[in-house]
Amino acid sequence: MTETTYAKGLEGVIAAESEICRIDGVGGKLYYRGYSIEDLARHSSFEETTYLLLYEKLPTADELADFTARMRGSRELKPPVQAMVRDFPPAGLPMELLQSVIAYLSGTVEHQIRHSATCNCRRTMHQIAQLSTVLATYQRFREGRPYLPSRPDLSSGANFLYLLRGEEPSEQEGRIMDTALVLHAEHGFNASTFTARVVAATFSTCYCSVSAAIGALAGFLHGGANERVMDMVDEIGSIDNIEPWLDKTLAAHGKVMGMGHRVYKAKDPRAIVMEQMLLDLCEQRGDRRLYDFLKKIEAGFRKRMEEKDKPIYPNVDFFSGAVYSMLGIPRDLFTPIFAASRASGWLAHILEQRKDNRLYRPRALYVGPEPRAWVPLNERA
Ligand SMILES: CC(C)(COP(=O)(O)OP(=O)(O)OC[C@H]1O[C@@H](n2cnc3c(N)ncnc32)[C@H](O)[C@@H]1OP(=O)(O)O)[C@@H](O)C(=O)NCCC(=O)NCCS
Repeated sequence: MTETTYAKGLEGVIAAESEICRIDGVGGKLYYRGYSIEDLARHSSFEETTYLLLYEKLPTADELADFTARMRGSRELKPPVQAMVRDFPPAGLPMELLQSVIAYLSGTVEHQIRHSATCNCRRTMHQIAQLSTVLATYQRFREGRPYLPSRPDLSSGANFLYLLRGEEPSEQEGRIMDTALVLHAEHGFNASTFTARVVAATFSTCYCSVSAAIGALAGFLHGGANERVMDMVDEIGSIDNIEPWLDKTLAAHGKVMGMGHRVYKAKDPRAIVMEQMLLDLCEQRGDRRLYDFLKKIEAGFRKRMEEKDKPIYPNVDFFSGAVYSMLGIPRDLFTPIFAASRASGWLAHILEQRKDNRLYRPRALYVGPEPRAWVPLNERA
């Protein structure tokens, strides 16, 4: 390899082969192990999608029943984890709490399972099952409510809303939440997934890999755009202010949150599903104001960008924050929910990395000083 292959941020660099996720950025298509995101959103559940990611195939009815029972049986937080959630410093962030819980869970697994060559990610699925319980419990505790056990008859999405609210969500709400988890479960070699694979490639444990991936997702360039979409909606304030706000923001070279994507140069297929779910929720409640507000921002932004010959489309975050808000989820849980869902994809990538491992070891293009003489302390300026 020569230094002329340098690509800032590894842009365009192919760092591994993968059978997990296919993204067609120009055509606006996304597949998990060959199944389209539209089919998965329509027909699958988060548990089944997790099985698909981890076991490389769709489960039979028996396999799904067994896997679902094991996932649901792993949801409950042990008293020390409940205490960890309760006592987490108020200034701490929920993403940091998730990392702490992952570290704790690591300690509950036998050494030989944790450190086995295949890393046993499939056996340690409590990492996936517990994350959403942690988040809902965190919200309950900060509202002064007690720990609530999960409902094994509910899907991952419906159970999350149940824990958050203390009452069962409607079938439609549960399905929407579960589908949101499906939509976020996997997305190729993004920063957090690459981080998980880099750590896995050292044969560190899958707990260390997932914890590192959560750290990568915590940065605002990766997670958090949906939170900022809702901040933007608040900042704009009224529907009449959308056009003047767009003029002002774009004149100042500001960004419209939830628009554009590094990979998709067409409408993000997840955004299409998410938009429909938002519309369904709004219509079910007889209040389309939030949907109409977002659609007006989208239309105004796209018109302005097309005039400059820059077609830019909404990404999944443009609609997901609104869906979560309508489901009563606080904004600071949006990115942690993303982590709870993406844990499935991270574990699939960790397994894949371990199957044909090679330690990641890129080089830097050295641009520092030429070799130079040591300067004694008393001679330095
Ligand atoms: C995601 C993002 C970083 C991709 O940026 P990118 O790779 O530079 O995108 P493109 O190359 O398609 O951008 C083409 C042009 O449109 C502009 N553009 C892209 N997204 C924009 C947005 N949301 N608001 C305003 N202008 C935007 C770019 O600045 C660029 O302008 P230029 O030609 O004057 O440099 C960018 O779209 C963005 O910041 N979006 C908002 C944040 C967001 O929603 N992030 C979540 C992504 S899942």
